[in-house]
Amino acid sequence: MSSIARIGVLTGGGDAPGLNAVIRAVVKSAYNSGIECLGIEDSFDGLLEQGRCRVMTPRDVRGIMRLGGTVLGTINTGNPFSAVIETSDGPKPYADRCVEMFHRMGLGALIVIGGDGTLAIAHQFTERGIPLVGVPKTIDNDIVGTTNCFGFDTAVAFATDAIDRLHTTAEAHRRIIVVEVMGRYAGWIALHAGVAGGADAILIPEIPFSLEAVAERLRERDKWGARFSIVVVAEGAFPVGGKLSLVEEASGGHVERLGGIGAQVSARLGTLTGKETRYVVLGHLQRGGAPTSFDRVLATRFGAKAVELVKQGEFGTMVAFDPPDIIARPLIEVVGKTKTVPRDSDVLLTAKALGVTFGD
Ligand code: F6P
Repeated sequence: MSSIARIGVLTGGGDAPGLNAVIRAVVKSAYNSGIECLGIEDSFDGLLEQGRCRVMTPRDVRGIMRLGGTVLGTINTGNPFSAVIETSDGPKPYADRCVEMFHRMGLGALIVIGGDGTLAIAHQFTERGIPLVGVPKTIDNDIVGTTNCFGFDTAVAFATDAIDRLHTTAEAHRRIIVVEVMGRYAGWIALHAGVAGGADAILIPEIPFSLEAVAERLRERDKWGARFSIVVVAEGAFPVGGKLSLVEEASGGHVERLGGIGAQVSARLGTLTGKETRYVVLGHLQRGGAPTSFDRVLATRFGAKAVELVKQGEFGTMVAFDPPDIIARPLIEVVGKTKTVPRDSDVLLTAKALGVTFGD
């Protein structure tokens, strides 16, 4: 057992429903263990200045579990290990300043809640001697080593509801409606929402698609009187021999922004089938709003476990869901990898057995 008196907690990268539930669990578990908790604003940036950290007690987290977003704020930090910042003592490497401030603030450990990028930065800070525990977050559910990330269930529930609503209007007008969901490198949201919503085609980054194959499948539906179709496409899906659809190239430490594949699929399917088509981009709606009860419980368990690991001195780790348990995994085993949908995924094979096409 370590005898840590004060810890810091921060959220980094894109938000996900459940972040506040983790913060609440961290603050309350720490408080009940006699550990003071500092909330650090705007990811690692909040470590750069003392004024951007505040002591949090159970009173500060009352009622936040059901809120989307993060009360601490978040940013997509570029690579802090190559950045230099201005300080009152002159220019300093960003990461050095973070380490210096961590010690100056009397912190014994950090709890870092973030996705693949944030956890990779956390791992580098571990190597710089910062005792830290990671908490995985992403609606995409593509972090290795954990069966689920909180936020994923909420995103799938939202996308499923959207598909349900689109079904009725698609059927009324005998249209093909294409629904673009998030999923940069992995098609988990498309796959699960597609299956839950009864989609006819699901296009994911792991399986380059042929729209000719999709169109053929959709035409078959006409034979048995279903003259409408729902196609779910992940934002990171692309055609055989084609490439990712981008709205903005990567620049200055920012990752490229995906977008446009839904519109392209819709236009091309219209040409190939001769049917009227429409498309809807669900975008950031999938990241907003209240977390589902599943995500609240998972996020709460993650937060409590992270404090437990701090107390046990198990640093350089990430909490993970290994049903039914929450366990610790070494960060080194997790960073730099992506959990994609395997071709033999049971959910994928089930969908195929029911006649859903993946365009392959
Ligand atoms: O990684 C999660 C995610 O939701 C991706 O699916 C998406 O490409 C990305 O974040 C968009 O993030 P932002 O618009 O915040 O840069």
